Amino acid sequence: MDTQPGSFPPARILGIESSCDETAAAVIENGRALLSSVVASQVELHARYGGVFPEVASRQHIRTIYAVVEEALKDAHLDLGDVDAIAVTRGPGLAGSLVVGVNTAKGLALASNRPLIGVNHLEGHIYSSWVYMADVLRPPLEPQFPLMALLVSGGHTELNLMKDHLNYQRLGATQDDAAGEAFDKVARLLSLAYPGGPSIQKAAEDGNPRAFPFPRARMEGSWDFSFSGLKTAVLRLVRKYEEENRRVPVDDIAASFQAAVVDVLVSKTLAAARTFAAKEIVVAGGVSANRSLRETFLSQKEFPVHIPPLSLCTDNAAMIASAGYFRFASGQRDSLDLDVLPTWPLS
Ligand code: KG4
Ligand code: ZN
Repeated sequence: MDTQPGSFPPARILGIESSCDETAAAVIENGRALLSSVVASQVELHARYGGVFPEVASRQHIRTIYAVVEEALKDAHLDLGDVDAIAVTRGPGLAGSLVVGVNTAKGLALASNRPLIGVNHLEGHIYSSWVYMADVLRPPLEPQFPLMALLVSGGHTELNLMKDHLNYQRLGATQDDAAGEAFDKVARLLSLAYPGGPSIQKAAEDGNPRAFPFPRARMEGSWDFSFSGLKTAVLRLVRKYEEENRRVPVDDIAASFQAAVVDVLVSKTLAAARTFAAKEIVVAGGVSANRSLRETFLSQKEFPVHIPPLSLCTDNAAMIASAGYFRFASGQRDSLDLDVLPTWPLS
C-alpha cells in the first residue's frame, strides 16, 4: 500500500467482532484514535463447559449484538450516518458466530449506504498496536516497518514479517497447539478455571519458574513453534504425582510451564527480528496479555516492542475497526454478498 501521508484519508470506521465468545463493537478515527469500544464477554456462559460452546456462542451474539453496536455509537456520540465504513471480522473463527457479525454489518451497511469491509481477525490483533485512546494528550508513536509481528492467540501462534501496512510474510507457525491453547489445556490438567491463560498466570505468581525444567521446543532451522511436547511433559508430571498420591504442586508447575512458553516465544521472536532486520516488534493476540511475556519483551533493550494495553489484547472490535481503516484507505470495498471464512489464513 502507498504510505504517503495523503493516501490516509480522514475516516471514522465502525468495527464489529463476533468470531468467538466476545460480542464487540467500536469506533475508530483515522485508524488509531479510539472513540468507543464495547465488549460483551460470554466467558461466564462458557466457563461451565470448560471451553467455548459454539451454539451457545452464536445464540448469545444474536441476543447482544445490536445493543453492543448501539452502545458503541452512543459512547462515541455518533449516529450510524457519521461513520464512513463498517468493518467486520470475516474469519477465522466459529462459523455460526462469524455469521452474526457479518450479517449485522451487512444490514448496517445497507441501511446507512456505507461500504462494508471484511477484516481478518488475525490482522485485527496485529493492528491493536496502532490503537490509542482518543483523549490522550500525545498519541504514542506508531509501529515502524519493517516489523516482526508475533501473533499469539487461542487458535494461532505465528511469526510474520510486515514490510508495510497489510503486508504479511509468514515465517513460521505452530506445528501443533497454539500458545493460548497450550495455556488452556495445561490449566485444565491442573484443574484451574477457564479461561486457562489468566488462571495459569495467577497460579504462577506463587510458584517457582525453575522448579521443573520443562522442554523448550526450539525447532532449529525453522521459525515454527511446537507446544504439544511441553503439554505432554506437564501431563506426565501431574500423573506421576497423582499415582504417588502426592499433592500436585500446581503453582510450581504453572510457573515452570509459563516460563517455558515465554522463553520460546521471546527468544524466537528476537532471533527472527535480527535475521530479517526488523526495526521493531509487535506482539498481539490474547496471550500478549500475559504479564511474564510482556515483562520479558519489554525488559530487553535490543528492539522497541509494541504490546497493546490489556483491554485490547483479547478479542475486541477496536482492532477490527483499525485494520478496517487501513483496508478502507487501501481502497478495499466488499460487496453485500460477503461470506464468512472460518479458516482464513492471514497470508
Ligand atoms: O485472542 P484471543 O482473545 O482469542 C482468539 O482469537 O483466540 O485469545 C484467547 C487466548 C486464550 O487461549 C487465553 O487463555 C489466552 O488467550 N490468554 C492468556 C492470558 N489472557 C488470555 N494466556 C496467557 N496469559 C494471559 N494472561
Ligand atoms: Zn482473537
